Amino acid sequence: MREISLDMVRVTEAAAIAASGWIGSGDKKAADKAAAEAMRKRLNTIDFKGHVVIGEGIKDESAGLFAGERVGKADMKQGKVYDLAIDPIEGTRPTVNSGPEALSVLAVADKGSLFSTHEFYMKKLAYGPQIAKHVRLSIKDTLKKTVEQVSRVTGKTPEKIVVCLLDRPRHEKWVGELRRIGVRIKLIQDCDVSAAIATCLSDSGIDLLCGIGGAPEGVITACAIKCLRGGFQAQIMRKDGQTQPEVYGLDEFVKGECVFAATGITNGSLLRGVRYTSEGPVTSSVFMRSSSGTVRWLSSYHGN
Ligand code: FBP
Repeated sequence: MREISLDMVRVTEAAAIAASGWIGSGDKKAADKAAAEAMRKRLNTIDFKGHVVIGEGIKDESAGLFAGERVGKADMKQGKVYDLAIDPIEGTRPTVNSGPEALSVLAVADKGSLFSTHEFYMKKLAYGPQIAKHVRLSIKDTLKKTVEQVSRVTGKTPEKIVVCLLDRPRHEKWVGELRRIGVRIKLIQDCDVSAAIATCLSDSGIDLLCGIGGAPEGVITACAIKCLRGGFQAQIMRKDGQTQPEVYGLDEFVKGECVFAATGITNGSLLRGVRYTSEGPVTSSVFMRSSSGTVRWLSSYHGN
């Protein structure tokens, strides 16, 4: 896995730079197309074989990089094949509306080890290593019990615990319950991958992410959280809105090792967005490896 490492950052950088041309444009399709094409082009210059397991989607009516696509320069008949989970723009809406937190993201794992799903939504629970070290939270527990456990292991009273959710009508009941429990609530408009990662960064100010978000984003999130040694559980939502009973944890989402790369498109709490100098674009990225637990924060100055 180490052999493909930093090349993956070049892929998310290329997609983020391409996406940045569409910031504020209002054109989701064009932004997605530009980012997906840049991602594919860069992937095809790398001497590896990639099999897209979690791809662009139906949800974005995207231009490609769908599940099943093969990428990479190496001959598919020989050598090692990797599973890929990609999202050229995680946060298409904030990209084209100049909102915050949009990222280009990519995760790589050994062949056959990434969870595959064509479903639209997942119910998710994410938390950081400081909690995961002491307790395995359960997505099936009540929010009250979950908050009590977080309070016990962190030593924080509920009013100091921050729970993040996507601001969606489907979360109304959860928000009501969290208000009764007395925690602080952070409602985000989009980009639950970045919010889930934030639970693993001790000074991000977010302790838990919960609620229903995109299913492909759930698999990508699991890869990042595995690298960060946090905790993540999810349940697939059926089309009729029912939650499937099976609970998937990190080891079901990624059976072995994985790497994760992300580059900021618009400014966010995790990464700065793409900005331009007269010498060319500047990007901010993060690259992580699950086997070592290394997390690298990178600023890259790209020539014109
Ligand atoms: P994309 O821009 O990649 O489609 O996803 C943005 C996003 O906000 C995700 O972070 C989140 O998981 C999902 O959409 C939520 O879906 P919805 O907007 O349908 O509630």
